[in-house]
Amino acid sequence: MNIKHIIESQQFKVPRIMELFERTNAMKKIVARGGTLDYQSKILATLFYSPSTRTRFSFESAMYRLGGKVLSTENAREFSSEIKDERLEDTIRIINNYCDVIVLRHHETGGARRAASVSNVPIINAGDGSGGQHPTQALLDLYTIHQECHTIDGLSVAFIGALDNGRTARSLAYLLSKFDRVKLYFIAPKELQMKQDILDHLDEHEISYELTNTTKNIIEKVDILYVTRIDRERLQKKNVNLEEYNITPSILKRLKKNARILHPLPRSVEISSEVDSDPRAAYFRQAENGLYLRMALLSMLFDGE
Ligand code: CP
Repeated sequence: MNIKHIIESQQFKVPRIMELFERTNAMKKIVARGGTLDYQSKILATLFYSPSTRTRFSFESAMYRLGGKVLSTENAREFSSEIKDERLEDTIRIINNYCDVIVLRHHETGGARRAASVSNVPIINAGDGSGGQHPTQALLDLYTIHQECHTIDGLSVAFIGALDNGRTARSLAYLLSKFDRVKLYFIAPKELQMKQDILDHLDEHEISYELTNTTKNIIEKVDILYVTRIDRERLQKKNVNLEEYNITPSILKRLKKNARILHPLPRSVEISSEVDSDPRAAYFRQAENGLYLRMALLSMLFDGE
């Protein structure tokens, strides 16, 4: 297998993204038929140094649905030899002997890149640090947008929440910058606003964007509302009205009829549960798509594509 680490969203070009989406559609049908045994000789290792529900379970389920096997540690900070001060690079060198691909969530930004620098098997970044990236989440977000809106070109997308350290929002902004005529809005208190490196990237790619601390006059315009958690602790001593960043039935009244609400999850109070039954709430369909997209991604890696 060629080594193809998946570290950041920027590495994906549009034709490859579309190829991945076609394979994701095919994987959905394969799951409906009960999965495949095509990859039964393959072993996936999930190495998570920080907590996860969706990413770890969906990668593990994806591997089982492809017929392969999984090695896992539930909490690598406690149940791997990191507790005996083993360096990440050494852990990766050792696990290389036991598997064909490693899915890594690391608590430090740059952890996935460090792992890739010594790995002979593909490293998939399942989230690095706070303020790093989460490229497979962004790919499944984009797939969901494509499925729900039948296009990506020309869409208006608002990101709302704690955007400075939001690795899913950061990765998705990079992916959206590859498409034509997209317009991005970043809605956050100024303390948590999207970081300059992303804004510089958008400028370089001539992507139009606005920064604001209010949903006023924005919600009505957007096709996608990408909600993320807000960091309440960091805002405790600031005079910020957090209600402004909550998605409630009153926000639904202002949202376009064909708009969609996405959230990488887990959510806290930022989306009220009354919103869940609205057909525009796409976040549970989005999480389901994570299984199919990760199956597609793994199978492409195993096929050397
Ligand atoms: N969206 C996401 O990364 O969720 P988990 O933290 O549960 O994996």
